[in-house]
Amino acid sequence: MNPRPAVAWIGQLDGYLQLIDQTLLPTQDVLIDCRTVEQVWEAIKSLRVRGAPAIGVAAAYGVIVGCQSQAELPRSEFDARLTHVLDYLATSRPTAVNLFWALDRMKATAAEQPDTLLSSELLSRLLEEARTIEVEDRAMCAAMGRFGAELLANCSGVLTHCNTGGLATAGDGTALAAIFAAAKANPKLQVYADETRPLLQGARLTAWELLQRGVHVTLICDSMAACVMKLRRVQAVIVGADRIAANGDAANKIGTYGLSVLAKAHGIPFYVAAPSSTFDLTLESGELIPIEERAASEITNGFGKQTAPTDCPVFNPAFDVAPAENITAIITERGVIQPVTVDNVRKMIKG
Ligand code: MRU
Repeated sequence: MNPRPAVAWIGQLDGYLQLIDQTLLPTQDVLIDCRTVEQVWEAIKSLRVRGAPAIGVAAAYGVIVGCQSQAELPRSEFDARLTHVLDYLATSRPTAVNLFWALDRMKATAAEQPDTLLSSELLSRLLEEARTIEVEDRAMCAAMGRFGAELLANCSGVLTHCNTGGLATAGDGTALAAIFAAAKANPKLQVYADETRPLLQGARLTAWELLQRGVHVTLICDSMAACVMKLRRVQAVIVGADRIAANGDAANKIGTYGLSVLAKAHGIPFYVAAPSSTFDLTLESGELIPIEERAASEITNGFGKQTAPTDCPVFNPAFDVAPAENITAIITERGVIQPVTVDNVRKMIKG
């Protein structure tokens, strides 16, 4: 696990949410304190906290931050505020289902409590639930690490995309947890990290995490992945996911779909690592997953430098969908789904 968590609750019921500001990495390692729900919303929207599981944990704590001021008020006022805060946080980002999953858990926790409970007691119960979400996520990361490492056991090189590590979760990560565990067993493992245009989560965050943990990492531009596969430098591709539909189609950072096609063309296994909280069995297929589109400036003026003509039209989807048929296996905390079929997904996730 990272020396410092990406998402942490500091203090007790009157505490606050502390985040590593991921927009500043790798050159500045700065903590930010969120004491209002607007700050939490902004931190999620602008990717100060990012990665599907970490967004879920941050949102759960965001509910506490948003309701603290009503803790001494009658339940009717507290309940109205809670509804507002849940709805508001749900508007921060659309694709990672972990956000909605965590908010639904907070909502269900409130609904289970008797109406006679004082507002402060309900807030306390909600904080317990947020802490449970965090602790469970850490355990899920550890389990995915163990299952994933088995699949990577015979690899001398693996390729990954975006950031799926300690910064993206409450624990060691999803795909990166598997890589950390595989590298522990095989210290010679070479990790090829896509830089991940346009916001460079691979270059800024994944390379940073791997170097910190002493894992061999080689950074490549996204467009070099085909060449790395052709040269047989990797024997597996492993990525995370933001939402997985009932048929196993997996939405993840833009570029993932292309990698799945390339891996198939080169006969290389393509693995997705994601906890059960990333599955959305209400959606039949990946076509129904809402895909976030982000500002054109991320492409035309990335990191403050203009790199395209002024007013050039831009298409900037933040995610794409790897179809189940391109996915060799999905690694969850409950086990490995292989082959990726509707039945196997349902069996693993619904139990
Ligand atoms: O836009 P981001 O940085 O939040 O996108 C993150 C990803 O796409 C990750 O690969 C995904 O959330 C898996 S996280 C463990």
